[in-house]
Amino acid sequence: MKFFVDTADVNDIRELNDTGLLDGVTTNPSLIKKSGRDFLEVVEEIAGIVDGPVSAETVALDHVTMLKEGRKLAAIADNIAVKVPLTIDGLKTCKALASDGVMVNVTLCFSANQALLAAKAGAAFISPFVGRHDDVGFDGMALIEDIRTIYDNYAFDTEILVASVRHPVHVLEAALIGADVATIPADVIRKLANHPLTDKGLEGFLKDWAATGQKIL
Ligand code: E4P
Repeated sequence: MKFFVDTADVNDIRELNDTGLLDGVTTNPSLIKKSGRDFLEVVEEIAGIVDGPVSAETVALDHVTMLKEGRKLAAIADNIAVKVPLTIDGLKTCKALASDGVMVNVTLCFSANQALLAAKAGAAFISPFVGRHDDVGFDGMALIEDIRTIYDNYAFDTEILVASVRHPVHVLEAALIGADVATIPADVIRKLANHPLTDKGLEGFLKDWAATGQKIL
């Protein structure tokens, strides 16, 4: 499963990119607001840091303006994935941008039927929001399972990008289902490496190693 980081914070992106574990980045208008940066400027900077797809979101609601925005965003760098909302205008825009050869990430997906439409519109990525789904009493991961089944039934190329990830269990469940990508907040990516038995084991080994009085270097 590919890991994208869900942030517009370039410090986090640089640090995680240096681990070699990062496959891409997703941003949204709320993350841009949080960064305090100019949208076009920060997206260009991020696209220069990572090799993989960098999602940049349109904000127009009508197809004509959304397409203009999408083309402007796509021109920033070859690794930009234009994000459009899962609306009829968003799907029309997805189809047009995909025909131009642009990667499109269809966002704000909350049902398997919506995901089916995005695949038919030629989306490179579909973003089902599992955390927000859980928040309102639905099972976000059941949605990922349904989308996986539908996409496999018809061999759609659209990648399932699990979004609105809140904790390591979401990452585990997404991987078990066979999602293609998870976009994960930076702090959750760091948590994936943690285990108390790893810390305890390391402490014991280092104590015993010190008692041997030996050195490797
Ligand atoms: C990613 O593309 C989404 O915009 C993001 O994962 C939403 O996450 P949130 O529900 O934590 O805002």
